[in-house]
Amino acid sequence: MKLLRLLVLLFVLPVSAQQGGMWIPSLLKGMNEKEMKTLGMKISAADIYDVNKSSLKDAVPHFNGGCTSEVISSKGLLLTNHHCGYGEIQSHSTVDHDYLTNGFWAMKQEDELPNKDLEVTFIVKIEDVTNKVLEGVAALTSEADKQKKIQENINMLSRTLPKESWQENKIRTFYDGNQYILFLTETYTDVRLVGAPPSSIGKFGSDTDNWVWPRHTGDFSLFRIYADKNNRPAAYSKDNVPYKPKHFFPVSIKGVKENDFTMVMGYPGRTQEYLPSYAVAQIINDLNPAKIEVRDAALKVQDGFMRKDNAIKIQYASKYASIANYWKKWIGETKGLKKSNALAIKQKFEQEFQDKVAKSGKQAEYGNLLADFKKNYTEIAPYALSRDYYTEVVLRNTELLSFGYRLFQLEQVYNAKGEQAFNDRKNNLIAGFEDLYKDFNANVDEKVFEQLIALYATKSPKQFLPASLVNADTKKLTEEVYSQSKLTSYNGLKELLNGDAKTVIERINKDKGFQLVKTMADSYLKNVAPKYDELNLKNIALQRTYMKAILELFPNNRIFPDANSTLRVTYGKVKGYSPSDAVIYEPMTYLDGVIEKYVPGDYEFDVPAKLISLYNNKDYGQYADKGRMPVCFIGTNHTTGGNSGSPALDAEGNLIGLNFDRVWEGTMSDIHYDPAICRNIMVDIRYVLFIIDKYAGAKHLVDEMKIVQNKKK
Ligand code: ARG
Ligand code: ASP
Repeated sequence: MKLLRLLVLLFVLPVSAQQGGMWIPSLLKGMNEKEMKTLGMKISAADIYDVNKSSLKDAVPHFNGGCTSEVISSKGLLLTNHHCGYGEIQSHSTVDHDYLTNGFWAMKQEDELPNKDLEVTFIVKIEDVTNKVLEGVAALTSEADKQKKIQENINMLSRTLPKESWQENKIRTFYDGNQYILFLTETYTDVRLVGAPPSSIGKFGSDTDNWVWPRHTGDFSLFRIYADKNNRPAAYSKDNVPYKPKHFFPVSIKGVKENDFTMVMGYPGRTQEYLPSYAVAQIINDLNPAKIEVRDAALKVQDGFMRKDNAIKIQYASKYASIANYWKKWIGETKGLKKSNALAIKQKFEQEFQDKVAKSGKQAEYGNLLADFKKNYTEIAPYALSRDYYTEVVLRNTELLSFGYRLFQLEQVYNAKGEQAFNDRKNNLIAGFEDLYKDFNANVDEKVFEQLIALYATKSPKQFLPASLVNADTKKLTEEVYSQSKLTSYNGLKELLNGDAKTVIERINKDKGFQLVKTMADSYLKNVAPKYDELNLKNIALQRTYMKAILELFPNNRIFPDANSTLRVTYGKVKGYSPSDAVIYEPMTYLDGVIEKYVPGDYEFDVPAKLISLYNNKDYGQYADKGRMPVCFIGTNHTTGGNSGSPALDAEGNLIGLNFDRVWEGTMSDIHYDPAICRNIMVDIRYVLFIIDKYAGAKHLVDEMKIVQNKKK
């Protein structure tokens, strides 16, 4: 029995098949096509990317720079996550039309809602421009000069390489500066909201279920791209027409099962898979714990207020979710790095690396790399820690300080550029602050400040602190700042900013809150930033050489470039995993699980009455799988932040799901991908269609799509 199981495993799991990687679409033919076919892919690399004919890449635009989306009809219908369209859904919501709570569905095209500041970007062409970017760089000696020359070349090439007037040339580095690739792009700015489920479906499980499998979230929303009469990008106009895509994804309702081939295309933001062990140790032992502790304190304070006061709950919901998202991720990442022995694995690789360097006679070129890394990471440690404390406390999680920091920048604008620039910036600030103060509660912020400033004063490296914070009575400081500073209200802020530059600058410099921010910013900019930047630049240069050496010395390894917000393809299989001893997770969830998690009236686990009744009547239409309604599934696709909204495709390139998250035990995949437990989480496309059709009654949207189904017998 055991032997049989082993044989079966060996047969269905080619080792190379499950190792992750996010690959460049234009290079699949040489690097991945064979492996993808071994895994079950039925289409060719040229079907995914081709410059001469339409291909899958033509249906996958970057969604507002941070998420991914896909075109799913000949009329520019666009699918992405609920959490990616959240800002737009929120911005159209009022007390009377609360689309976050109740959902929104445009029953005809005239009802689709235009959005300020929303754009989607398509890739027209991908081309290697390494030689052009590096022209004249080798002759330079200092790292700073090299970086400057590279930037100049990039700027020049972006301007001069051929493009149409409505297109853009974007050049990005791959393999840490060893390769440069050009993306010719087209950006559409008239993108309208078409549909969104209520949050009790689109955000079901909220923060408790975030980063967790088993998952039951219908994390999707629908938009439509509009173009001018020539199908080109155009600013919003009621004369614009639905965009006609070069390609759109057929939607398959045939269903998925374990071991099916899957592929995800999208725009992963940032990974660091090739860091040396010294850097990973620092993340595990110092940086993540510090950031987690700061956010932990901020979240506890906010949560306390939110539970007691409904108005505060609404004010802080979105802030809380965004602080909690990476707080939770860092906890999972740290755990996962430890549990998967990432450090030991890195160290073993470094030993091998050193041996190869010696054997290949490259001692002079690469022999000192790891020792240099070690020296640099040791030296940078206190600076990196200070920087994280500064970022987390001053810039991110205490609003009075981050507001004050904007005034600090305003003063700098005046010093550098004079009165006119000052006035422009000031007016922008006053307008922008109105929204920020709407969601600001001085009592909450004061309690957050009290906790965070104490952490700052006691835990961040003492040698870089401003004198006033060393051994400071932070309780007293908190009282002083929040009783005296004008930054605690919007009116106070407007008072501070009233008048000409000289008056304003004199006045803000007398404000207790501003004074504190300025002292903190000054000492950071003087004691930490210059040395951090200097050492960081050295690490960047070392990382580039290290990457070059790895590529040279390990030609048979699967070496994919780290994520950099450019279009990638990752592939694998639908697959469950074992998170811990004796526990095995199935790869699919069903609506039954939503009902199991249902807590009436709860802000995370409430379920809409209509969904319950559809469940009770098993009214699933053509979307059921053997009488049950599928909700989410997981696979071995290697994804990261930015892949949200990415299309999950089957062996034929049909849409079967929508990527939105990763599993808790595998959140370390940005630093160390472990094929045994790293999984991406996708909404099953049948659940999306079921919600649109049966729940929302927006069948006309499904009719617009090209549905692929099993042949009727
Ligand atoms: N963890 C997912 C990602 O990193 C989803 C985040 C949105 N959901 C939430 N509950 N905050 O974006
Ligand atoms: N939830 C992430 C996103 O928004 C995806 C991930 O980190 O796996 O891009």
